[in-house]
This record gives sequence, C-alpha cells and structure tokens, in this order.
Amino acid sequence: MSNLKHNGELRWSPSYLRRQGKVTPAQKRALRDNWNRFGIEFRYGDKISLNDHFSSSDGPLHLEIGFGMGENLIYQAKTVPDSRILGIEVHKPGIGAALKKIEEEQLQNIRVMRGDARLILSDYLDESTRFDQISVLFPDPWPDPENAHRRIIQTDLIELFARKIRHHGHLHIASDVDLYRDHVESVMAHHNAWKRITDFEITSLRGPTRYETRGLEMGHRIHDLYFQFDPCS
Ligand SMILES: C[S@@+](CC[C@H](N)C(=O)[O-])C[C@H]1O[C@@H](n2cnc3c(N)ncnc32)[C@H](O)[C@@H]1O
Repeated sequence: MSNLKHNGELRWSPSYLRRQGKVTPAQKRALRDNWNRFGIEFRYGDKISLNDHFSSSDGPLHLEIGFGMGENLIYQAKTVPDSRILGIEVHKPGIGAALKKIEEEQLQNIRVMRGDARLILSDYLDESTRFDQISVLFPDPWPDPENAHRRIIQTDLIELFARKIRHHGHLHIASDVDLYRDHVESVMAHHNAWKRITDFEITSLRGPTRYETRGLEMGHRIHDLYFQFDPCS
C-alpha cells in the first residue's frame, strides 16, 4: 500500500485502524485466485484509466469507499447489472471477502483497489475519471473530539470528490451515529456546489451492510444523506 507521507509530512490523518484482522483461509484463496481478474494494481506515478479495467466503457460508474466485507458492492452490482463499480478498501480480509462473493455470484462489473481512497483519488485515477455516484457507508465515526481529524469526511475530501464526480452526480453518506450525521452536515454546509437531496431513486440502491446491522442491533437510528453535485446553480 502506498505511503501517505509527502516530504515527511502526513497528507491525511489515518481514517482507519492499523489493525488488519486475520485473513481466513477462504479469503486467502479468493485473493490468490481472483485478484488478477478483479483487482487493480498501481505503482507510484501510475495514472489509471478505469475504462482499461472494465469490460465495457458504458454504464454508470460507481465508487464505494471503505466497502468493509463488500456486502453493498455485491448488492449494487446485482441490482444495477449495467453499472461499473469500483470499491476501494484498506483492509485485506474485507478485500478477500468481497472477491469470494464476486466469484460465487459470477459478477463481472466490480473492480477493487487496495489502499487509502484519498490517495488513490488524488494521485492514481486519471484526470478524466468522473463517477456518477460516490458512496461512503458507515465510515469509522471517531466520536472522541480529539480524534475528529481522523473522520474521513472532511472539506479536503469533498473538494477531491468535486474533481472526480460528473455534474449532477450523487454522493451518498450513511451513518448510524447521530454525531457523525451532524459532522457530515456541518462539513457539507461549506460546499455550495453540493445540494442536499432527500427523495430519489438512489435510495433503493443501498444494500444492508455489516456495520449497519451492528448499529441497528445497538438501537441506533440510520441516517442516509444524499447530495447532488451541481456547481453551476
Ligand atoms: C466502519 S467500517 C464500515 C464498512 C462497511 N462500509 C460497512 O458498512 O459495513 C469502515 C471501513 O472503511 C475503511 N476505510 C477507512 N478509511 C479508509 C480510507 N481512507 N480508504 C479506504 N478505506 C477506508 C476501513 O478499512 C473499514 O473497512
């Protein structure tokens, strides 16, 4: 995984835990057998054109950041078969789990990258990349105010999204933590190009995820926040 440092300084606070968790034997096998087909490798200096990696250059392009065990990647790929879905995740067990499900479901329209999504978006995806939809589902909430800088939703990431989303594209952020909903609302209030939307077809597109289930079991309320990118209005 590429380094987040630039001239010795961290470019972003780590938004994920260093702890990797254990890769199970089934995930290891899925990584070994399927990475070459569905994983996108990158090296320092690369500029990746996603069209070179999907079998079709048509269909809406979706990005999911921090897909965990991949439940929603699979759900979206099945629900919208003509979509092209890129998942970015740091942790290897989750990538292994997703590759296993991609293989079992024989899905062709998912690709995965391993690394910090902020680094991949800013340095490795080519300038012409424009997503139709970006999803960040149940990001680590970092509730302690001392760790607020580790929350992935920050002004600089929203500015990065603006460079990578098409006009009228959608951003979907879900959380089971009230404080995180407030955090997202306060960050987004500084970005006039993103309009909050409440009711549209995309709401049917999210599948249940592990962290959503965990939140529901703890009695938390789920917040799905949708924004549309409209810099000209
Ligand atoms: C709380 S989990 C939620 C996982 C999944 N979305 C769900 O709802 O079950 C957050 C995930 O985001 C990943 N993550 C955090 N920061 C990331 C980053 N900068 N780039 C890529 N993945 C990240 C973590 O590794 C973790 O798997």
